[in-house]
Formats: sequence, structure tokens, C-alpha cells
Amino acid sequence: MIPERLHNKLAKQIAAAEKKREKAIDVMYALQGHYGYMSDEAVVEAAELLSMTPLELEELATFYDFIYREPVGKYVIHVCDGVVCWMYHEGSVFDYLCRKLGVKTGEITRDGLFTVLPTACIGDCHHAPAMLVNGEFFGALTPELIDEILERFADEYFKRAITR
Ligand code: FES
Repeated sequence: MIPERLHNKLAKQIAAAEKKREKAIDVMYALQGHYGYMSDEAVVEAAELLSMTPLELEELATFYDFIYREPVGKYVIHVCDGVVCWMYHEGSVFDYLCRKLGVKTGEITRDGLFTVLPTACIGDCHHAPAMLVNGEFFGALTPELIDEILERFADEYFKRAITR
């Protein structure tokens, strides 16, 4: 269930919009932030807040690469699947990451940290091949750089876990 504070904040944002459905993506992002992914429960709650049907929200949720209808790792890696990124990498960044992390598309690594997903061009083709990790851009990828990036995120996560 959505915490009262978040519910009230979202209700306020929706009330300020010209049309409630304008806020559909913002509401789903906020609920995804709370639940970790857009669960069935979250879809129903978002639909109630927005006066939309769960099916309408489902259609939006499945259209956007950045709304997750299944649980994901703490860090979601969106690998650019655009043609320029394919041209600038010998072999596939996607395959390299999946092999390295021991997962298939959309699966979560055993430590709960990573999920790898393909996405359309992320708009920085001159730094191909590229990927986003929780929205942070990384370009000119090489296997060595990918290894460093994964290590950095894993280190950050475990350091934060220790200091909590
Ligand atoms: S094709 Fe990969 S960033 Fe454009």
C-alpha cells in the first residue's frame, strides 16, 4: 500500500495537472521508486489515483522501457540496442554483460544487484557503444570499462550497506 505521505504528494501533483492522465508516467515512476518495480498492486493504486483503468496504465507501462513490470536488480543496465552502438563494438555489449553477470535479459543477478535490459538509441551515438545504469550514461564502452563500471556500482552498494 502507498504510504500516506507519498499518496498525498502524488494526489496534489495530479490535482495541479490540467488532465489527470498527464501525470501517469510520473506517478508510475514514483510508485516504482517505492516498490522497486511496477507491481500489479502498484498498477491498481496508480489507476485509482489517476482515475484511469488498470488496463490503460498497463498499456503505458509496457510501452516504456523504463517502467518495470517485473522485479529488477538495484541497478538496471539499459544497453543501447541502436544500430550505431552495434557498429562500434566487436561483439555485443549486451551479450558481454549477460555472460559476465550470468543472467539473461531481465533476470536479476544472484546478489540482487543487476538486471540487464536492451533499449532503443539513448541519444548519444557519437559515444557509441553506450549504456545507462540507473539512468547514468556510460559511453565508448570496452570490456575493461564495463568491468570497472560494474565493480564501481557493486562497491558503492556494499559500502552503503555497511554504513547503514
Ligand atoms: S545507437 Fe546507441 S546511443 Fe544511439
